[in-house]
Amino acid sequence: MSTDESFIDIQGIYKRFGGFTAVDGVDLAIQRGEFFSLLGASGCGKTTLLRMIAGFETPTEGRILIDGQDMTVVPPNRRPTNMVFQSYAIFPHLTVRDNIAYGLRKDRLPKAELDRKVAEALEMINLAGYGDRRSNELSGGQRQRVALARALIKRPKVLLLDEPLGALDKKLREKMQLELRQIQDEVGITFVFVTHDQEEALTMSCRVAVMSEGKVMQVATPRELYEAPNCRMVADFIGSMNFFMASPRGQETDRLVLEAEGLGTIRAPLPGFAVNGRAIAAIRPEKLALTTDKPLENLPAVQGNIATSAYLGDRSQFYVRLPGMAAPVAVSAQNVERTVREDLDDGTPVWLSWRDDAIVVLPE
Ligand SMILES: Nc1ncnc2c1ncn2[C@@H]1O[C@H](COP(=O)(O)OP(=O)(O)OP(=O)(O)O)[C@@H](O)[C@H]1O
Ligand SMILES: [Mg+2]
Repeated sequence: MSTDESFIDIQGIYKRFGGFTAVDGVDLAIQRGEFFSLLGASGCGKTTLLRMIAGFETPTEGRILIDGQDMTVVPPNRRPTNMVFQSYAIFPHLTVRDNIAYGLRKDRLPKAELDRKVAEALEMINLAGYGDRRSNELSGGQRQRVALARALIKRPKVLLLDEPLGALDKKLREKMQLELRQIQDEVGITFVFVTHDQEEALTMSCRVAVMSEGKVMQVATPRELYEAPNCRMVADFIGSMNFFMASPRGQETDRLVLEAEGLGTIRAPLPGFAVNGRAIAAIRPEKLALTTDKPLENLPAVQGNIATSAYLGDRSQFYVRLPGMAAPVAVSAQNVERTVREDLDDGTPVWLSWRDDAIVVLPE
């Protein structure tokens, strides 16, 4: 999969609408065969960027290369790309077969070959036997798969998907996520996938670009994004995170020593940037251990009180008030036992402990 040179090369791209900058200086290098996602809140410029890759929008500044060729001003139908839109644009009055064949209408294939390709596509989306069904007699998920098949049947080098699962309910969405991954593995096409759902981006992608206000904040694998976010925005957007304002106090071999509000003196892995002045110490809720007794191990620990808690089935979420901190700290604990802990009423004194390397130091 990985070649040294990138397959889609986005270089210094800006898109301005009047005085408003929708895409604000984006550089991205997407590899051949990669499942690459653009993730960010509503209005951050994901669709605009995708439309520029597809050719439906021209950049105000910058260049887009696909497979080494400058595509910046090439019209959509002359690009090796195909786009699946959020509102699955399939024709309700046509059959499933005719909807899929529509993707090949310009190719004027002999009937036998067209039939073979459509049958293959039906097989791929698990709808063999549905060819004669009218599309308005399909479920949302089935319609979505037809839209996908119609885009894939042309075997584009790049498939651009704009929130293609947005309209589906949670269960179906998760099923389609797996199916999309499988289809992508089988066909080996480069996918650029837009979503505002962080869980979806993490499940599906080789790498994710997190966007905010037209800019790319971080490009990384799902694991890197979660375990080593590079800024507060990314840390906050991916999963949940506790933040503590902190001041550096010095260095001990490979640890940065900080004085953090609520936690006292803490030691954290050295961050990849120079900390001068203030910083933020961040820790995920599941990386904090909650106990009623003082932890036996020689771990860093602080005492607080349960502010409130919630039972969520697979885990429980606790909010713990620490002296000197306005906001309670979130702690999540897997419910390994079937018996629910009854001893943690609001107000109960508890200990929070953690390991040094669970702490991420972020710029203020
Ligand atoms: N044709 C246009 N003219 C003016 N402003 C536009 C145009 N298209 C998009 N915008 C603005 O650019 C910004 C980015 O829009 P875009 O559609 O790319 O966001 P998005 O990240 O896809 O959001 P969503 O998740 O809601 O789909 C928005 O503030 C939007 O209002
Ligand atoms: Mg959009």
